[in-house]
Amino acid sequence: MDKKTASYLAEPEEVNLCVLLYSGGLDTSCMLKWIQEEYNCEMITLTLDVGQQKDFKKIEEKALNLGVKKHYTIDAKEEFAKNFVFPALKANALYQKVYPLSASLSRPLIAMKGVEIAEKHNADAIAHGCTGKGNDQVRFVNTILSMAPTMKIIAPVVEWNMSRDAEIEYAKKHGIPVPVDIDSPYSIDENLWGRSIESGILEHPEKECPEDAFAWTTAPEKAPNTPEYLTISFEKGEPVAINDEKMSPAQLIMKLNKIGGKHGVGRLDHMEDRIVGLKSREVYETPAAAILITAHQDLEKFVCTRHENLFKELMDTQFAYLVYAGLWLEPLREDIQAFIEKVNEKVTGKVFIKLYKGSATVVGRISENAIYDYNLATYSVDSTFNQKASFGFIELWGLQSKIAHLLKKRKST
Ligand code: ARG
Repeated sequence: MDKKTASYLAEPEEVNLCVLLYSGGLDTSCMLKWIQEEYNCEMITLTLDVGQQKDFKKIEEKALNLGVKKHYTIDAKEEFAKNFVFPALKANALYQKVYPLSASLSRPLIAMKGVEIAEKHNADAIAHGCTGKGNDQVRFVNTILSMAPTMKIIAPVVEWNMSRDAEIEYAKKHGIPVPVDIDSPYSIDENLWGRSIESGILEHPEKECPEDAFAWTTAPEKAPNTPEYLTISFEKGEPVAINDEKMSPAQLIMKLNKIGGKHGVGRLDHMEDRIVGLKSREVYETPAAAILITAHQDLEKFVCTRHENLFKELMDTQFAYLVYAGLWLEPLREDIQAFIEKVNEKVTGKVFIKLYKGSATVVGRISENAIYDYNLATYSVDSTFNQKASFGFIELWGLQSKIAHLLKKRKST
């Protein structure tokens, strides 16, 4: 093995017990064996249910068959939705204006649970299955070390440099079941806030993403010919009901993924700037996020002043950036979130959404906190708005700009 390049990386003699953040896929299954061999240590596996559609019983069986001392499956769907996704929703959080941060938001939670279990069992190290080219390693390691500064990290995929074929070979040799969909050319990450699709043909950004990459959404052109209308109710910035039916945070999000997916809502394809410097083409399916962020943003604009709206955009962008950048535990994220929570205290009301062939459009909104005032805004003659006041307003509003422009003209002649 190479010499350590960072002090947090584990040496074999330092590890007696290691907690592996285990997805149940081929990478982390090979890792489970590989660490036992290379580090000669005992293993605990942890799989977090954050809304990915997986058979968690099967994952547990697999881990136990591969010789773990103990396996944990934690259902964290509601915690994820309430404490990670909802704050991001209140921030209308979109990295580079498009990506709702599905994978980015789950990593700190998975890492925190990993630390909890590692500390409970006195483990010396936590292992993850991220590559050295992605953002997830940064999110995991930064969160783990912020929580437990002396914890050692094992990152086998970065170290072992195995090709896909070598991995399959390794799996067969060690009795690790090779998944039936191993021929899938894509690398997938899923949770209730979205599904990310990477690699294969997608590494050629000029080529359209093939239909077989999508699993949650119907192609917009094949979506129903009749639009569907939804009412989303918000309380203090959080969605609480669909069509007046109350639901828990995770339930509500998962339901919107189904409805939105049917109408082809939430497909994204963009060039992403990764934390590690790479530019990469990323494809996502995020129906619930597309609907909820659109609805929330509209209601927020309805109940906030223009000064709040303008300033909040800056905070929202910064919040999304910090989350993307793996800095969930950075105090600035909490500071900004406090501001965002404050603004959201008045974001209560209903938004009416129309779903149709790939789009989720706001078609109406209602709130007791609206700054909108019909009597002021109406073009009918009995409006209470004093139109004559606008004469003086215009004069003062443009004063400096007018002088500056006249000066420029004078100087150029
Ligand atoms: N590019 C996205 C992000 O950095 C998605 C990452 C998905 N992770 C994965 N292991 N496939 O948040």
